[in-house]
Amino acid sequence: MCGIIGYVGEKKAVPIILEGLKQLEYRGYDSAGIGIVHKPRSKKGAEDKNKIFVLKRKGRVANLSGLLKNKHFPNGLAIGHTRWATHGEPSSGNAHPHQDCSGRIAVVHNGIIENYQELKKELEKEGYQFKSRTDSEVIPNLISKFYKEGDLKKAVAKAIKKLKGAYALGIICSEQPEKLFAVRNDSPLIIGLGKGENFIASDASAILKHTKRVIYLGDKQIAVLEKGNVNIFDLEDKQVSQKIDILSGDISKAQKRGFKDFMLKEIYEQPAILSKILSQWVSSDGNIRFKHLGLNDNFLKGIKQIIIVACGTAFHAGLVGKYVIESLTRIPVWVDVASEFRYRKPIIKEETLIIAISQSGETADTLSAVREAKKNKGRVICICNVLGSSLTRESEGVIYTYAGPEISVASTKAYTAQLMTIYLFALYLASLKGKISGEEFKKGVSSLQKVAAMQNKILSQNKEIKKIARRHLHFGAFLYLGRGVNFPTALEGALKLKELSYIPAEGYAAGEMKHGPIALIDEYRAVVCIINSSPVYSKMLSNIQEIIARKGKIIAIANKGDEQIQNYLKEVIFIPKIEPLFSPLLTIIPLQLLAYYVAILKKYDVDKPRNLAKSVTVE
Ligand code: M6R
Repeated sequence: MCGIIGYVGEKKAVPIILEGLKQLEYRGYDSAGIGIVHKPRSKKGAEDKNKIFVLKRKGRVANLSGLLKNKHFPNGLAIGHTRWATHGEPSSGNAHPHQDCSGRIAVVHNGIIENYQELKKELEKEGYQFKSRTDSEVIPNLISKFYKEGDLKKAVAKAIKKLKGAYALGIICSEQPEKLFAVRNDSPLIIGLGKGENFIASDASAILKHTKRVIYLGDKQIAVLEKGNVNIFDLEDKQVSQKIDILSGDISKAQKRGFKDFMLKEIYEQPAILSKILSQWVSSDGNIRFKHLGLNDNFLKGIKQIIIVACGTAFHAGLVGKYVIESLTRIPVWVDVASEFRYRKPIIKEETLIIAISQSGETADTLSAVREAKKNKGRVICICNVLGSSLTRESEGVIYTYAGPEISVASTKAYTAQLMTIYLFALYLASLKGKISGEEFKKGVSSLQKVAAMQNKILSQNKEIKKIARRHLHFGAFLYLGRGVNFPTALEGALKLKELSYIPAEGYAAGEMKHGPIALIDEYRAVVCIINSSPVYSKMLSNIQEIIARKGKIIAIANKGDEQIQNYLKEVIFIPKIEPLFSPLLTIIPLQLLAYYVAILKKYDVDKPRNLAKSVTVE
């Protein structure tokens, strides 16, 4: 978590850092800070020595901007940080940059130093004093300890050899006022190459406005940036060659375009995104072709098992994937929370395909799971939204979801884009393995092509859904129930509500209700039931009757034309009918809107819910 940025160049660094931090705020927003190398003028007008000025504030980047309002820093060297607290509560004191005791060195850090307590004890014995409760503060002090020899690059290398954990670091030193240092291990860091200026950042969004020429720094490589050049070294001080990539994408896409917030805009973008995905992967002859799949047909035909790894919303997309892929291809699919897969000694056979799903492509748990799979000789592809992200670079193949930048912390459009991609992959694989006929393939693609229009119909019912949200926002807890391919929809609906409105919400497979959750039901419990037309409709209807009998307050998601449900319930959101297998692309839309409106009516910040960050880049 956390976002870091650094600038060295001819322009004033402060506005560039602040602007970059705003772009990175989705990675954490409990505090922000900036470190600037600056030569203050003494009273008599004589120039003094360079110093590092550190300014930090609890809360959003806007608070930090306020602090800098009337301050004048003309220099072109600074680092910035926006924080998601891991060690030490959100406060100005724990905000980054952190400095060494002498104040000569300042560091911004994204990641976790696992052995910081041990290092801190050692440093304390040597007389170093600590001001914060963070793990990060050991880093500038460790560098400072080795800097006694005068070469900062060497000192950084020595410090790195002592650190255990994940880190992306931006480092400045008052005695090296022309240089910005950067190093990473497992946490993302990108170097941007400009003209007369160079940048570091946690991701491209922070620097895209300035340059599209980037270098992805390798693990344990040290970059030394000056305004006119960038040099990269390994820990043995050998220069490393640089591969320059050109970024595609346009920062102007990440605007609200008249919507009140990013989340609503992203919910409404879904139909267009799904159409875009279809046009990307379904060719004019009606066949599905993936550009960067990276696996040959022989391997694909021989797959005996698929393991999907992901976190959060992407995990829920993976659960839908299990139903879809198994149903169409008859290949057994296991879905694992990435952080569990990583540590459970997974069994990976030669004919196993691992699919990692991630919006950001930077989720630490998902990346670790992929690394673990590769260590066990697993063949890995990913379904990912962010072009050039770590996951796409570490996987053998990629299917991009083309959802565009997702800014709102709660994932919406990335989820349905992941689902659409999974449907297409399942159809592709099923047809390759001869598990579905040409007719069935065509029918599947044609169903998917109808989804966008159907989603638009649901979105047009926003006012009705807002009214339902208003009638239910006082409920202290929600239960979400679904069956089959809509069990993951129930999980995802509950996740959306809890992360946005902080109301406890649980998702369950409706068949499980009798095995425990039914104890929760009374007149104070809101229960969201997904009862679309499907082979388990009557089972779901029985569940609904059981809830009514216990006075639970039901909101149902049902298909248009379902008269039966109206005999039982008042609060029904009707959605268009589609083949049950494809219904998760529709059933989730009203649940996204419901969660959105509950949070809005409670006056919460939907784009940046408390305690969360968009990219979870620590394990
Ligand atoms: O970037 P990723 O898709 O890997 O992120 C995974 C989860 O952190 C993410 O889906 C999270 O659960 C969202 N806040 C859900 O809205």
